Amino acid sequence: MEAPKKLFIKTYGCQMNVYDSERMAEAMGAEGYVQTETVEEADMVLLNTCHIREKASEKLYSDLGRLRNLKAAKPEMKVGVAGCVAQAEGAEILRRMPLVDLVVGPQSYHRLPAMVKAEGRQVDTEFPTEDKFDHLPQRKGYRGPTAFLTVQEGCDKFCAFCVVPYTRGAEVSRPASRLLKEARDLVARGVREITLLGQNVNAYHGEDRTLAGLIREMAQIEGLDRLRYTTSHPNDMGDDLIAAHAEVPQLMPYLHLPVQSGSDRILKAMNRKHTAAHYLDLIGKIRQARPDVLLTSDFIVGFPGETDQDFQETMRLVRAVGYGAAYCFKYSARPGTPAAEKTPVPSDVADARLQELQGLILAQQQAAQQAMVGQVVEVLYEKPGRLPGQMVGKSQHLMAVHVQDATGKTGDLVRARVTSAVTNSLSAVLL
Ligand code: 5AD
Ligand code: SF4
Repeated sequence: MEAPKKLFIKTYGCQMNVYDSERMAEAMGAEGYVQTETVEEADMVLLNTCHIREKASEKLYSDLGRLRNLKAAKPEMKVGVAGCVAQAEGAEILRRMPLVDLVVGPQSYHRLPAMVKAEGRQVDTEFPTEDKFDHLPQRKGYRGPTAFLTVQEGCDKFCAFCVVPYTRGAEVSRPASRLLKEARDLVARGVREITLLGQNVNAYHGEDRTLAGLIREMAQIEGLDRLRYTTSHPNDMGDDLIAAHAEVPQLMPYLHLPVQSGSDRILKAMNRKHTAAHYLDLIGKIRQARPDVLLTSDFIVGFPGETDQDFQETMRLVRAVGYGAAYCFKYSARPGTPAAEKTPVPSDVADARLQELQGLILAQQQAAQQAMVGQVVEVLYEKPGRLPGQMVGKSQHLMAVHVQDATGKTGDLVRARVTSAVTNSLSAVLL
């Protein structure tokens, strides 16, 4: 028998890319490829890229530069570029990087196996009408206690700074019946927690279901103990979804709800179509439904036109909400987006704001972690810890928890009391 070919995948960016990479690995698995962690032994290298900020895009070109020697020594090795940079800059990648054999955009992954077999350089950045996931084979067998499941893709919101509507295309929801089947298959393979993914997941509308409807149906699946979803837009946070947070025990008390800015002027310039007051009102309703919910967000500082006063309004909003964590980004002008035409805020001003905001968020994160000390948490073990007899998993609030548990196994769901906290993890004793 021929030795299996080896596939090395590097994933940049968001969780949807993580999910896509898994599915591409499965598709290539059906073609006889096994995954490797060592790029030097790969027969094929696939870079699954992110275009959201300039720095993320640049990583692709520096990584490709580093692959040049390897490709020169091993010309038969295939180099593929997938993901959002592939979608946005396919032609430029081929022109600048002769070592690249194929470029495949996010909506064409089901065509990857055929592209790998074809002669010559291949590029596919179409937006085909068929659902790529229907044409990507799924692996069987045990696959660990947590999984992502893409339920919705693309975005019609057109925030002025964002490339997603261009790279991932228009918003499309996958049919609920297929998603329920996939969820059941995942559970049969050992999964106990599923995170529903979408660029605008709370806008989900497949086969007459809202996201809340889908969550309620998924919660009926025997053995599926936990559900999460990410990432959401404030304007799609319907009352039924808020009610689900109160009523569906499997839905974890955790919500990532990006707001981007606390200034109404900047929110308007960003085309977010909501105000800071609307967002705060929403947070109030969600906390009323689920008082222990942990909130996280995304922020952009230095958006064109942002004044010190605008920025202080962001700081005020952060103080008013009290987050468990948040991603803070310095604005990055993206080609083709409306905001890229505007005069940028000086870089050093944006840097200073970023530091100030990150300082506040870090303090809030530490306070949220510290507040868990003495509390009982449920932990879903994901892997053994570094110390002997230790297991590591996530709490309901997605906090990493270390538990001393000599007989614990990956996939166990246990109760434990938190004894100490640092910024990124908790220690707890088994109950
Ligand atoms: N510059 C900086 N941050 C951005 N994001 C999206 N586009 C940009 C940009 N051009 C951030 C937003 C979004 C997250 C995924 O990335 O905060 O919520
Ligand atoms: Fe980008 Fe806005 Fe759509 Fe989120 S909602 S993907 S930030 S355009």
